[in-house]
Amino acid sequence: MKGVILAGGTGSRLHPLTKITNKHLLPVYDKPMIYYAIEALVKADIRDILIVTGGNHAGEFLKLLGNGREFGLQHINYSYQEGAGGIAEALGLAEHFAMGEKVTVFLGDNIIEGNIVGPVHAFREQEHGAKILLKEVENPREYGVAELSGNRIVSIEEKPQAPKSNLAVIGIYMYGNEVFDIVKTLKPSHRGELEITDVNNHYIREETMTYEVLNGWWGDAGESIEALMKVGNLVAETGANKLTL
Ligand code: G1P
Repeated sequence: MKGVILAGGTGSRLHPLTKITNKHLLPVYDKPMIYYAIEALVKADIRDILIVTGGNHAGEFLKLLGNGREFGLQHINYSYQEGAGGIAEALGLAEHFAMGEKVTVFLGDNIIEGNIVGPVHAFREQEHGAKILLKEVENPREYGVAELSGNRIVSIEEKPQAPKSNLAVIGIYMYGNEVFDIVKTLKPSHRGELEITDVNNHYIREETMTYEVLNGWWGDAGESIEALMKVGNLVAETGANKLTL
């Protein structure tokens, strides 16, 4: 299994902090935001990692992370997304890197208290399809929201006005290698982006999507200034993803 961290975007919701740097390089308590995603992947024994970024500050990632020695890695791969075509477009850039393997995709602004060891292990064993992680939230309108029927996900709506549940789809997704063919069939949404929610709904229609509800807290630190501060405070209070090499 390979790991893909998506760390592009303009970070407009965090202006003016992101006017002169990439959102994923901002501090979350005592570390740059992207550290948490790398640590979570390494903890789940995913050591072959690609970082997809873009914009004017892409070079800073190389300066910060180098070959990943700080995380016990010997090498980190990098790819550059031109423009802001969305999460699914960024994922498409990982096709060559994945080389036929499954991928765990991690949005670089997502931070979790616990780990993804269990779900990654389960997905290694899963024969077909994809797996997503859900978490109960108070403000589902800000996220992709899952509708469940019994033990099955029947749909995901991206930032719905009238959410059908309070279960947010968090930004950690596991896909079989066919995901790259699915990305090629997508059409841009009303905001002009290729949406990861459309990828996930494809698997739901095929009935090959599984899910787990994540243990521990989850935060999307890129959602707003308040979220960035809240997640930083949670890390400070509870510790998150401490990686012991
Ligand atoms: C993205 C996804 C959304 C998901 C969220 C999790 O939204 O589109 O479905 O719930 O990440 O962080 P974004 O934060 O890019 O608007």
